Amino acid sequence: MLKLGVNIDHVATIREARYRGLGHGEPDPAAAACLCEAAGAHGITAHLREDRRHIQDRDVWKLREVVKTRLNLEMANAPEIIGIALKLKPEIVCLVPERRLEVTTEGGLDVAGAEKSLTETCQRMKAAGIEVSLFIAPDEKQIAASARTGAQFIELHTGRFAEDYHDQVKCEAEVQRLIAGAKQAHALGLKVNAGHGLNYENLPTLFRVPHLVELNIGHSIVSRAVFAGMEKAVKEMLAVMAGYHGS
Ligand code: PXP
Repeated sequence: MLKLGVNIDHVATIREARYRGLGHGEPDPAAAACLCEAAGAHGITAHLREDRRHIQDRDVWKLREVVKTRLNLEMANAPEIIGIALKLKPEIVCLVPERRLEVTTEGGLDVAGAEKSLTETCQRMKAAGIEVSLFIAPDEKQIAASARTGAQFIELHTGRFAEDYHDQVKCEAEVQRLIAGAKQAHALGLKVNAGHGLNYENLPTLFRVPHLVELNIGHSIVSRAVFAGMEKAVKEMLAVMAGYHGS
């Protein structure tokens, strides 16, 4: 069964819009995580960015206390955040690139260009009992490098797929890249997640991609939750995901 990790960053985005710097405020991402789990989510994802634009340090510790499924800490491969992760002990970390000016995570990691330091981070996480996922574009070179780092998972970046969704030709080309990437990763022994820009409308088109283990979805679920409530938003996404028969 395809698993759903709900990214609750944007619950914190709403809070920070009113309460930035005050150390309290609503809505609470940890309360959102509990609702997601109650609705059947298989994991909770939060991105502790170096600029702390949404999720704050106190959030990840509270999440560690309340999350009963799997906590996935999205993070840069940066010393400060690595130190926090090693103490926090999420079940898994997803290493992502970070640029201060981006609105959200824009490109995939350049694993081939940073293989040495990513391998070292994978070793440190493994020693602490934490799994590692690398967020990458469906690129042959990046997938081959990911397998060499010792990471257990890759997360295929579906941002371009989502962006090109309404352009049939471009979208088909990206789906083909994702299919090839998933096959290559699976053959190399990597488990395959996917995420970024997925929503209730575009998701079924991704179902041709084989070997998917988990999807990480944030913005569209939080957006739907504004009108329908978090539990309904999560249940509706799980209902869409039930159509996946890809591995
Ligand atoms: N996966 C990764 C690695 C991400 O950086 C993000 C965005 O924070 C997501 C998934 C979720 O993307 P979206 O909010 O567009 O669903």
